[in-house]
Amino acid sequence: MERGSLLYEGKAKKVFATPNPDQVIQYFKDDATAFNAQKRGTIFEKGIVNNKISTRLFELLNEAGIPTHFVEELSDREMLAKHVSIVLLEVVVRNRATGSLVKRLGLEDGMVLDPPLLEFFYKKDELNDPLVTEDHIRLLKLADESCLAQMKTLAFKINDVLTPFFKSRGMLLVDFKLEFGFYKDQLILADEISPDTCRLWDIKSGEILDKDRFRKDLGRLEETYQEVLKRVSA
Ligand code: TMP
Ligand code: ASP
Repeated sequence: MERGSLLYEGKAKKVFATPNPDQVIQYFKDDATAFNAQKRGTIFEKGIVNNKISTRLFELLNEAGIPTHFVEELSDREMLAKHVSIVLLEVVVRNRATGSLVKRLGLEDGMVLDPPLLEFFYKKDELNDPLVTEDHIRLLKLADESCLAQMKTLAFKINDVLTPFFKSRGMLLVDFKLEFGFYKDQLILADEISPDTCRLWDIKSGEILDKDRFRKDLGRLEETYQEVLKRVSA
């Protein structure tokens, strides 16, 4: 499919127009950033791997009745998606305490969170994507009551689909980040789900199988992304 004009460029993806105004092309780059782009690098073929992993996971979620922006995989690095208006929130679901939660609250790393914990972050690079409460979200008018309720319900449903899926492939879904958008008044899941946006630990060895390898300079980046793709595709 012909790529039209560049509508948006993020840290890991570009979004292009298509001849159909209701659809866009998501192009996955190899660029990796961390700490609000203070750390930059590339991971060989990450874009290809993340496109394939996201495709598989969106297909799985669509089959489970969760509305997503995914339409079809177009090429190695391109996904056709519904053209949404993005809600300026990152929705994080956590099954174990780690990352920023541990830093913020001083919890033990790896602590089981039952029930899972949901957090909202304001998508605003200038402010370093701060954690926001539901009252902050109302104050900033980032989402109305119905949108908030739907995001929470969908995020927990997605956790209920993805957790057993990853478990059956030997991976613990520690936490993940979602972005939602409106498509013709319907709230649907957008963006991507990949080792860039999830934390995945090998169930047997505890080995880190996600972007924390880049954030923490743990090495074996390409191999790890390829390993997750292999397991997700099996
Ligand atoms: P955190 O522990 O750093 O808050 O991250 C929670 C989850 O969100 C983790 O799976 C990584 C993901 N994440 C992103 O997808 N993008 C980001 O910019 C950040 C900070 C985290
Ligand atoms: N997306 C983050 C950034 O702003 C990095 C991260 O995922 O930690 O660079």
